Amino acid sequence: MASMIEAGVPSEVAPGDPMLPRPYRIRRASRELEDTFTLELAPQDGGDACRFAPGQFNMLYVYGVGEVPISISGDPRKEGGFVHTIRAVGSVTRAMQTLKRDALLGVRGPFGSSWPVEAAEGRDLVIVAGGIGLAPLRPVMLHVLAHRNRYDKVLLLYGTRRPEDLLFRRELERWRARLDLEIFVTVDRATEAWRGNVGVVTTLISKISFDPARALAMVCGPEVMMRFTALELANRGVPPEQIHVSVERNMKCAIGLCGHCQWGSNFICKDGPVFPYGRVRELLSVWEL
Ligand SMILES: Cc1cc2nc3c(=O)[nH]c(=O)nc-3n(C[C@H](O)[C@H](O)[C@H](O)COP(=O)(O)OP(=O)(O)OC[C@H]3O[C@@H](n4cnc5c(N)ncnc54)[C@H](O)[C@@H]3O)c2cc1C
Ligand code: FES
Repeated sequence: MASMIEAGVPSEVAPGDPMLPRPYRIRRASRELEDTFTLELAPQDGGDACRFAPGQFNMLYVYGVGEVPISISGDPRKEGGFVHTIRAVGSVTRAMQTLKRDALLGVRGPFGSSWPVEAAEGRDLVIVAGGIGLAPLRPVMLHVLAHRNRYDKVLLLYGTRRPEDLLFRRELERWRARLDLEIFVTVDRATEAWRGNVGVVTTLISKISFDPARALAMVCGPEVMMRFTALELANRGVPPEQIHVSVERNMKCAIGLCGHCQWGSNFICKDGPVFPYGRVRELLSVWEL
């Protein structure tokens, strides 16, 4: 039986029109944290290959409620569906959290620029994530693990407010057990049971060993975290053009038409969300466009 949420789903969608959401069915909905969940989506008509590059995002439309940009958190090698990890913060994402397996969502995308995984080959790769910022970087980790011999050192620094906010816990443990990865986790505020690092993620940067001149860094998290992380990496000698950040701003069309996300000559939806830090240094100190 069709759910209320499916009411208004267009029966036919012109292929290739980037403004028309295509119906996708929720194959699996899983709880990550109290306010965070992962949706595995498959095209209802089975027709889309669902290829994407790490760092790209989709516009997810909850029928009758609204549409929001959400990064793709799945494995870029896996075709036939998209994985998204979402924190419920407002009207659309809260409505999304109530959707169960087999419900329909509208999907437009993938859109935007991607993390420079090819440019990082042959270099030390420093990945820094804060909170939900690990979700857009997870495809990078999965790509790197599939092509591990192409990279020198691979370091992941991950920080959350509290131990219970850590995302992808089991996967983090698996990564931590590998000898070819260096995984550092920290929390702002520890509990009694916590035995790991305490302090914001930037405090880890002075402790790690890598070659700053040749390293490439990818940073995703709250803007204040990205700003201080980029400054700290630059202080260690990483050139600004080798530091990449993912800028999140409110979006409407996601294809560079409406101007909603425009900043100077940049359209965040089209030229971003992933930018070299040097290009968006000033933008990161402006909260809203
Ligand atoms: C390119 C891109 C990729 C994103 N990827 C993800 C992702 O992988 N997972 C995820 O959970 N979220 C992601 N977001 C953020 C997500 O789009 C917003 O949380 C969502 O639009 C909120 O919509 P809402 O209707 O639920 O909340 P609203 O009712 O619109 O807002 C609720 C609260 O959240 C704040 N808010 C809204 N948008 C943002 C934002 N972009 N950043 C910070 N605070 C915001 C509002 O100021 C308000 O306080 C991404 C955003 C962009 C631009
Ligand atoms: S969201 Fe319309 S131009 Fe970027």
